Amino acid sequence: MTLAKGIWFNLPNFFRAPILLVSEFSVSSWLWAKRGYGFPVPSYVKRKLLKSLSFTNAIWIETGTLHGDMTKFLAKSSDLVISIEPSELLSTRAKKRFRNNPNVSIIQGTSEDYFSDVVKEVSGRVNFFLDGHFSGVATFQGDRDTPIQLELEVISAQIGRLEAVAVFIDDVRLFPSGAPETESDYPSRDYLINWACGNNLRWDIQHDIFIAISSDRLHSPSAETLHSSSNTRNNCVDEVEA
Ligand SMILES: C[S@@+](CC[C@H](N)C(=O)[O-])C[C@H]1O[C@@H](n2cnc3c(N)ncnc32)[C@H](O)[C@@H]1O
Repeated sequence: MTLAKGIWFNLPNFFRAPILLVSEFSVSSWLWAKRGYGFPVPSYVKRKLLKSLSFTNAIWIETGTLHGDMTKFLAKSSDLVISIEPSELLSTRAKKRFRNNPNVSIIQGTSEDYFSDVVKEVSGRVNFFLDGHFSGVATFQGDRDTPIQLELEVISAQIGRLEAVAVFIDDVRLFPSGAPETESDYPSRDYLINWACGNNLRWDIQHDIFIAISSDRLHSPSAETLHSSSNTRNNCVDEVEA
């Protein structure tokens, strides 16, 4: 065992990195399969989805930085990632983490206070990863657990000015599929669907993410697949349950 450990730790990173990568994928895939492909969805699956459906060479706006893991992933393929995090501790750490990444901007504050200003500043094709919500220990909890309705209203108000949008709302399992319970701050999934339809966006739900993409600008083969495969689900619902 000690010999094996010795060999492993003496291997150059050149050999260790791909082995670690493959084993991480295999372990999380195996655990996910064991859970019947339920929640939580492994982050590599979500990343793959975002990569295949987002606009390339476009700005990313993320709400909820947490430790900056998704920020780091998005920054690999974007000239600018703006991430909003209200927790002073988390945003300070994230600023430190990305201090050498000129294409990452961490904003300390809530979506309620900053999202509108950030969206007004950007132009062209914009990707959104909306993931700012209370998520337990050490994360920020404001008056509402999620600012999602306000964020969607801001995008609606600015969408006409933007060339195209790809909106990804994470953790869609938290959004009730029927009428929301009175104490829930999360609107229903019907609300999300009607928001997408009202803004002429095609939508789908995959791997716990609600996806809404500008329908008049198919930009990648993956998006074409998404649209054609979700044709039956692209109808707007009649009643909006807010
Ligand atoms: C699920 S975590 C984000 C995870 C991160 N996006 C990732 O993928 O690695 C949610 C984050 O949202 C933050 N948050 C909570 N309320 C918020 C609000 N009103 N505006 C913006 N962010 C908020 C929390 O502090 C927490 O760090």
